[in-house]
Formats: sequence, C-alpha cells, structure tokens
Amino acid sequence: MYNKGTIIPGLVIFVLLVTFPIWFNAFSTASTVPKIELPPGGEKECVASATEMRAKHMVLLNEWRDDVLRSGNKTAVTVGGKEYRRGLQTACMQCHTNKDKFCDSCHTYTSVNVYCWDCHLTPDVAAAKKEKH
Ligand code: HEC
Ligand code: HEC
Ligand code: HEC
Repeated sequence: MYNKGTIIPGLVIFVLLVTFPIWFNAFSTASTVPKIELPPGGEKECVASATEMRAKHMVLLNEWRDDVLRSGNKTAVTVGGKEYRRGLQTACMQCHTNKDKFCDSCHTYTSVNVYCWDCHLTPDVAAAKKEKH
C-alpha cells in the first residue's frame, strides 16, 4: 500500500523546507546583530533600562522634545548621580559619544534614517565647529 521509496525522501524534503528559516538564519551572515559600542566614558546606566531603551528610545526622544520645547519643562534627568539636561546633545551624546559606532550601527543595519542630525550636532561636528571659531 505504502511506497517507502517515495515517502521517506518526501518526508526529508518536507522537513528541510519547513525548517528552512531556522537553519538559514543560523548560517547566514546577513542576520548577525550589529555590535554596538557602549559609552567610552565608562557610564554603566542609561536613562532607562537597556530593554526599554532598545524598544522605546524614539518615543522617549519625542516626549523629551515636546516636554522641553512645548511645555517648557526643563527638569533634568539624573543617571548615576549625575544630572543631564534632557536633549540629544545634552544627554544621549554625553554618554554615547560616538554616533557612528553606537546609534548608527543599529540604524544602518535596520535601514532607519534618523533626520535629527540635519540640525542637532554630534559631538564630533560640535568639536569641529568650535575649532573653526
Ligand atoms: C548617563 C549615560 C547615558 C545617557 C545620558 C544615555 N545613555 Fe543610553 N545607555 C547607556 C549605557 C551605559 C547603556 C548600556 C546599559 C546596559 O547595557 O544595561 C545604554 C544603553 C542604551 C541603549 C540600548 C543599547 C542596547 O544594549 O541594545 C539605547 C538604544 C540607548 N542607550 C539610547 C540612548 C538614547 C537615545 C539616549 C538619550 C535619550 C541615551 N541612551 C542616554 C548610557 C547612557
Ligand atoms: C539597539 C539598536 C539601536 C540603537 C543603539 C539606537 N537606535 Fe535609534 N532606532 C533603532 C530602531 C530599530 C529604530 C526604528 C524603530 C521603528 O521604526 O519603530 C530607531 C529609530 C530611531 C529614531 C526615530 C527615527 C524616525 O524617524 O522614526 C530616533 C530619533 C533614534 N532612533 C535615535 C537614536 C539615537 C540618537 C541613538 C544613539 C544615542 C540611537 N537611536 C541608538 C535602533 C537603535
Ligand atoms: C529642523 C531642525 C531640527 C530637526 C530636524 C530636529 N530638531 Fe530637535 N530641536 C531643534 C531646535 C532648534 C531645538 C531647540 C534648541 C534649543 O532651544 O536649545 C530642538 C530641540 C530638541 C529637543 C529639546 C532639548 C534640546 O536638545 O534642546 C529634543 C529632545 C530634540 N530637539 C529632539 C529631536 C529629535 C529626536 C529629532 C529627530 C527625530 C530632532 N530633534 C530633529 C531643531 C531640530
């Protein structure tokens, strides 16, 4: 009734096809998660937990902007006993000083275009501008 000669190879092919995403991911270099550089200044904490930051830093930045600019709320955040004024340059980039090796290692990988830098300065650009004056 059953033809072992076609069922077994058929099953093998079926299993390979169904599990394709698993072994493809395991061997493909395209799925390597980028390596990000932690703050070179040695800071150990972020303004929120790393998990929360990974998921919500874009929302947090928008909240800060609205709060600072529209509501005029200038309260600082305290991290590791040090105060930071809420802002890209005044907080985030004080610790994550290297935009290329931190922010952009993820953004390039996920093809996210962050337009904030059209106006806001990275520490590198800010330092270069200072030198010219
Ligand atoms: C006081 C220093 C400090 C400030 C200010 C700071 N960070 Fe962080 N950030 C860190 C440290 C240290 C870590 C790693 C924390 C960990 O792994 O537990 C981190 C982690 C993160 C992560 C998660 C990285 C990962 O592990 O995947 C993101 C995203 C991030 N920060 C974005 C930001 C943004 C955006 C801002 C500004 C709103 C900011 N950080 C402000 C020090 C800081
Ligand atoms: C762990 C990876 C990771 C790190 C590190 C990271 N980002 Fe992001 N960021 C993302 C991802 C993924 C998105 C897109 C999220 C989405 O579209 O929902 C994003 C989106 C954003 C956006 C919103 C862009 C838009 O137009 O929607 C801003 C602003 C932003 N990131 C700023 C920063 C800054 C500033 C830093 C460095 C201090 C940083 N991010 C570090 C992964 C990261
Ligand atoms: C068209 C120019 C422009 C762009 C693009 C821009 N900003 Fe700003 N942003 C400003 C100006 C101007 C201020 C006010 C600076 C001041 O009052 O000192 C500001 C202020 C802020 C503040 C309040 C705290 C501070 O730094 O003074 C936050 C937070 C902020 N921006 C986040 C963002 C984020 C996140 C993005 C990208 C998603 C972004 N901005 C894109 C021009 C811009």
